[in-house]
Amino acid sequence: ASAETIRSALLTWYDSHARSLPWRSPPGTPPPEPYRVWLSEVMLQQTTTVAVAPYFARFLERWPTVEDLAAADDGDVMAAWAGLGYYARARNLLACARAVAAQGGAFPRTEADLRALPGLGAYTAAAVAAIAFDQSATVVDANVERVVARLFAINQPLPAARKTIRAHTEALTPVERPGDFAQAMMDLGATICTPRAPRCLLCPLAAMCAGRRAGPEQFPVKAAKK
Ligand code: ADE
Repeated sequence: ASAETIRSALLTWYDSHARSLPWRSPPGTPPPEPYRVWLSEVMLQQTTTVAVAPYFARFLERWPTVEDLAAADDGDVMAAWAGLGYYARARNLLACARAVAAQGGAFPRTEADLRALPGLGAYTAAAVAAIAFDQSATVVDANVERVVARLFAINQPLPAARKTIRAHTEALTPVERPGDFAQAMMDLGATICTPRAPRCLLCPLAAMCAGRRAGPEQFPVKAAKK
């Protein structure tokens, strides 16, 4: 199937099946504020959507803008983060908020400029560029990795397969609606193309999926343990 066939099937599915999450705006509508996108993406690294939701709400209530967060007391932010884990993320969050505030309070709009902020990694830069600023950045998290490894029946094992997976994801990423595309891939991975027992009968990409025919659960292939 062509990239266009795949992404239009995915975006059509997303139009009616997008999860409604507190940091999102509905499919096809203007994006949420960059601060909300950034904050949610940092929180969502290694933490589930269900666990993140109440933290996201509390942070926004207490620190409604990136400048409010930049001015916060370190200890207050660490205390509010307690329970989310990976405290380095909270320290990076503050460093990044202060850098953005020092630059006038507006997040940069491109992946490269976002990446230059302290504590803002490659994944977060791509996700914020795509979701908040409509840049066609390639967003690959663990869900996207699994969807793409299955869709193209990538036989190469992880972690070596990551380069191939990224190249396929880049080729699929649209110029229009890149943020919806990225989040549609995440939702597909979280709700349909799950690690165990994927629900291929409900999948908008089933007809185009090479991994489905071969047995989807074998992808992504893991390196043999030594
Ligand atoms: N995981 C990481 N970012 C996400 C997002 N924007 N929506 C849903 N799940 C996510």
